[in-house]
Amino acid sequence: MILVTTAGKVGAHTARILASAGQPVRVIVRSPEAHQDLAAAGIELFRGNLDQPDSIAEALADVQSAVLVSPAVPAQEIAVIDAARKAGVAHVTKITSDAAPDSPIQRRRDHYRIEVALAESGIPHTLLRANAYMQNLLALAPAIAANSEFTSSTGDGRIGMVDARDVATVAAVIAPSPAEHAGKTYRLSGPARVSYDDVADQLTTILGRTITHRRITTEEQEAAMVELGLPTPVAHANAQALELFAHGDSDWTSPDVERIAGRPATSFSLFATDHAGRFSRADA
Ligand SMILES: NC(=O)c1ccc[n+]([C@@H]2O[C@H](COP(=O)([O-])OP(=O)(O)OC[C@H]3O[C@@H](n4cnc5c(N)ncnc54)[C@H](OP(=O)(O)O)[C@@H]3O)[C@@H](O)[C@H]2O)c1
Repeated sequence: MILVTTAGKVGAHTARILASAGQPVRVIVRSPEAHQDLAAAGIELFRGNLDQPDSIAEALADVQSAVLVSPAVPAQEIAVIDAARKAGVAHVTKITSDAAPDSPIQRRRDHYRIEVALAESGIPHTLLRANAYMQNLLALAPAIAANSEFTSSTGDGRIGMVDARDVATVAAVIAPSPAEHAGKTYRLSGPARVSYDDVADQLTTILGRTITHRRITTEEQEAAMVELGLPTPVAHANAQALELFAHGDSDWTSPDVERIAGRPATSFSLFATDHAGRFSRADA
C-alpha cells in the first residue's frame, strides 16, 4: 500500500496516477465527502487530520511507501515521519522546496526542519525539491479574465516554474519502486526559465488578446494578496518569495523531471493551453 498524505494539487494527482497504474493507494483527507471523485478512481480515502497523530498511525497500517506532500507545517509532517518509522514504512518521498535553515521565507525554513527530521529518522527517502508551481499563476486568472492584465513584483526575474502535475508524475514513478531513488535529491523544474513578461506574451498568443504584466512593488504585492483573501502571514511569505524571484532565486532548471518521468517536462505554453478556460472572459 502507498500512502499519500494529502489530496492537494500534487497529492491528488499522484494518487490518480498510482491508481490508474493498478497500485493500491490511500490518501488522508479531512473530508472524504469532498473527494468522491478520488474514491471513484479507485483510491482509498482515509478520514484523518495531520494535526491528530492517532489518525496518522492508523493510516499507515500496511503501508510500504509514503508520499509526504502536505503544507510545510513541521509538527504535522514530523508526526507522520515518527509514525512511519514506528510502522516500519520502507521509503518516504518528500515534496519540498528550496529549503534552507537561513532562508528569509518561513516555509522554506520549515521544510528544512522536516528534511532534517526525515534524515534523522533513518527511513530511506527521496527529496523532490520543486521550483515554483505553474499552478500558482491560476490565482491571477480572475484578474486576467476580467481585465487582460495582471500585476507582480517579480520584475525581470526568470523562474524555472514546474507544472505541479509533473511533480506528481515523478512522485508516482518513485513511490512504487523507490530502491534506486533512495538517498537522492531531485530538483524539479519546467523546461525553461520564464519571466512574468514571458507569461504575458505566451498568454497573449494562446488567448488571442493582449495580456499585460504590470510591475508593482513588494509592498503593493503583499497588499494585493491580502485583498485577494490570503491570510496576512501567507501574503507576506508569498510576497517575499516573489521578491526572491525578482533577484534570480528561482532562475534554474533541471533535467530531473525528464530523466525520471521519461518524457519532457511540461512547458508553460502547454500548461496555459490546458488551463486557457480559466484565463478567459467566458469563465470569469
Ligand atoms: N506552490 C509552490 O509553488 C510550491 C513549490 C515548491 C514546493 N511546494 C510544496 O508542495 C507541497 C504540496 O503543495 P500543494 O500545492 O500540492 O498543496 P495544496 O494544493 O495547497 O494542498 C494542501 C492539502 O493539504 C491538506 N491539508 C491541510 N491541512 C491538513 C490537515 N491538518 N490534515 C490533513 N490534510 C490537510 C489540504 O486539505 P483541504 O482540502 O482539506 O484543505 C489540501 O488538500 C507543499 O509542501 C508545498 O510547500 C509548493
